[in-house]
Amino acid sequence: MTTIGIIGAGEVGSQIARAAISSGYDVVIANSRGPHTLAVLIDELGPSSRAATAAGAAAAGDFVVIAVPLKLVNDMPVSELAGKIVLDTNNYMPWRDGRFPLVDSGEKTVHELRQAHLPTSEVAKAFTHIEAPRITTAGLPAGTP
Ligand SMILES: NC(=O)c1ccc[n+]([C@@H]2O[C@H](COP(=O)([O-])OP(=O)(O)OC[C@H]3O[C@@H](n4cnc5c(N)ncnc54)[C@H](OP(=O)(O)O)[C@@H]3O)[C@@H](O)[C@H]2O)c1
Repeated sequence: MTTIGIIGAGEVGSQIARAAISSGYDVVIANSRGPHTLAVLIDELGPSSRAATAAGAAAAGDFVVIAVPLKLVNDMPVSELAGKIVLDTNNYMPWRDGRFPLVDSGEKTVHELRQAHLPTSEVAKAFTHIEAPRITTAGLPAGTP
């Protein structure tokens, strides 16, 4: 697996892109406004990166990171993500995203709701516990005691 699709190019998505490229991956990254709005980021990331639509990043990735807040109505590309592992960085922030009654009642986590939005993908929670700036500064090599 050498290409990571990253949907979301904000604080977390851009940081995961930087970390991934420094570890030898290629990234295809998307935001909501279109690839042309990511020129500055792609210039910074260099030749191992390219911008795409969300569907394009999903299709290109061997696995895919979703660094986008969960919405009540699914805005992720279901068919392009089918059969893929999806790492979901979302944290539940009702003041930002609105309330999800199933989360408030304790019946579901936000990641289970993302899984319900993406029934043909395998969704895993990832990078939710770390502030975005630390993604590129807090890592240690595998095997570090
Ligand atoms: N910031 C942190 O330190 C941190 C740490 C851990 C987890 N998290 C969680 O990770 C998620 C992302 O946080 P963030 O801080 O990176 O948010 P952010 O800076 O606001 O970035 C969100 C990104 O999502 C994109 N986006 C929104 N809807 C989209 C869609 N339908 N298709 C493609 N891209 C879409 C936005 O694109 P546009 O700008 O074009 O709209 C933007 O690039 C949140 O759920 C947050 O709770 C954040």
